Amino acid sequence: MPNLKVLLSRETIARRVAEMGEEITRDFRGQSIIFIGVLKGAAIFLSDLVRQVPLDSTFDFIGVSSYGNRPTANEDPAGHAAWDSLGAVRLTKDVDEPLAGRNVILVEDILDTGLTLNYISKLVRAHQPRSLRIAALLDKPSRRKQPIEAHYIGFTVPGAYVVGYGLDYAEKYRNLPDVCVLENL
Ligand code: IMP
Ligand code: MG
Repeated sequence: MPNLKVLLSRETIARRVAEMGEEITRDFRGQSIIFIGVLKGAAIFLSDLVRQVPLDSTFDFIGVSSYGNRPTANEDPAGHAAWDSLGAVRLTKDVDEPLAGRNVILVEDILDTGLTLNYISKLVRAHQPRSLRIAALLDKPSRRKQPIEAHYIGFTVPGAYVVGYGLDYAEKYRNLPDVCVLENL
């Protein structure tokens, strides 16, 4: 049976998200921002983060899927290989808002191998935004395959598989208020 162990409590997350919001507010004082959340994992983080940034801003979502790299309900993945990216990322939902000339902050739940955000960053840059930054709630630097730099990082975490606060395992556990390590996968 999978076992859940709290890694980051809801209080710890809320404090850090407020700090990240303050930092973004300082960096973009007097300017406007469009936040772009990466579906679906970043939805909860984005909704908390944008409410900590009292600037002229809006948000949108982008959707991607990575072929065969995430565990499905019928799989019994043994170890890390089960959720390793295979390198093929595909756009499933483009942004609805124009991005040219705007300050864009990409909002992602977790930075793992880096393949997803590398793909999305390239895509967004093609729209010629005024600036492009990345805000990731979690960072797992030990798993990186492609170099990528996030300007705002909530927490650096170990390589273990985590769920909750938007993050899933085969679409489950997104609604947990805390970030938990999923043990005995
Ligand atoms: P990357 O392309 O390997 O950086 O993948 C990033 C995406 O993989 C995240 O947006 C998550 O959807 C997913 N992911 C990576 N690690 C985890 C994890 O520990 N728990 C849940 N999802 C994860
Ligand atoms: Mg994701």
